[in-house]
Amino acid sequence: MSNGQILQVLFLALVVAVASADFNTDIDISWGAGRGKFLNGNLLQLSLDRGSGSGFRSRAEYLYGRVDMDIKLVLGNSAGTVTTYYLSSQGPTHDEIDFEFLGNVTGEPYILHTNVFSQGKGNREQQFYLWFDPRADFHTYSILWNPQQIIFYVDGTPIREFRNIESSAGVPYPKSQPMRLYSSLWDAEDWATRGGLVKTDWSQAPFVASYRNFRADACVWSSGRSACSASKGTWWAQSLDAGGAQKLRWVRKNYMIYNYCTDTKRFGQGFPPECSQEMAP
Ligand SMILES: *[C@@H]1O[C@H](CO)[C@@H](O)[C@H](O)[C@H]1NC(C)=O
Repeated sequence: MSNGQILQVLFLALVVAVASADFNTDIDISWGAGRGKFLNGNLLQLSLDRGSGSGFRSRAEYLYGRVDMDIKLVLGNSAGTVTTYYLSSQGPTHDEIDFEFLGNVTGEPYILHTNVFSQGKGNREQQFYLWFDPRADFHTYSILWNPQQIIFYVDGTPIREFRNIESSAGVPYPKSQPMRLYSSLWDAEDWATRGGLVKTDWSQAPFVASYRNFRADACVWSSGRSACSASKGTWWAQSLDAGGAQKLRWVRKNYMIYNYCTDTKRFGQGFPPECSQEMAP
């Protein structure tokens, strides 16, 4: 091989190393006293019983990126449980991009709850039912976060978009605080299922959520800067194309059950400015 070819091979190896991730090297179980564990086959499980829930987090912090995770939610009667999966920075004016899965009794649907915090301000809830049973199998839940927008995906289908309109409309956008990936399984029987009407059935414990195939194609933050310049993936410039926008509309029309941008009880006519960017319906 010529030097050029060798360099090319090295470069490809480097790109692959950035694009894929491994639980054992990239994730730390952060709480739960043994209730979170790594299993064979690059599988991770979190569990919850009366004593405690459990959680993990990424070792690295990212400033922009795309993360994908395959998750299989708590089987059977998961009422009262919440499984979270989110990016978050630290400190009082933090940024956060949230997936939360609210459990339900057997045969009734999970709610996928989402939110976006920018510089400490949240209150941007949107909720969905899914078009499949998320406890029956693994499905891929992804967050794309680049300078143009944040997109939430389920199995590659966009379910929510939060655009960067900071310069045009003054809505703060997460752009300068690095975020870690977090996940947890915990009890929230006071509000999770039918607003707290259905309590956790502890005779079903331990409750277990499973994870596999974590991928982070992201700019890793280290020593106060983002090591992004050399290795931006296709996600850096990714946005919704016409097909993506059509799918997003399909989800909003058929599966969205709550949207803060249409909640007149809460906001009267004074909706937050980003709501004018929301697509119909
Ligand atoms: C649970 O099932 C009930 C009845 O179908 C439904 O109203 C509710 O939205 C479901 N999900 C949650 C998390 O409460």
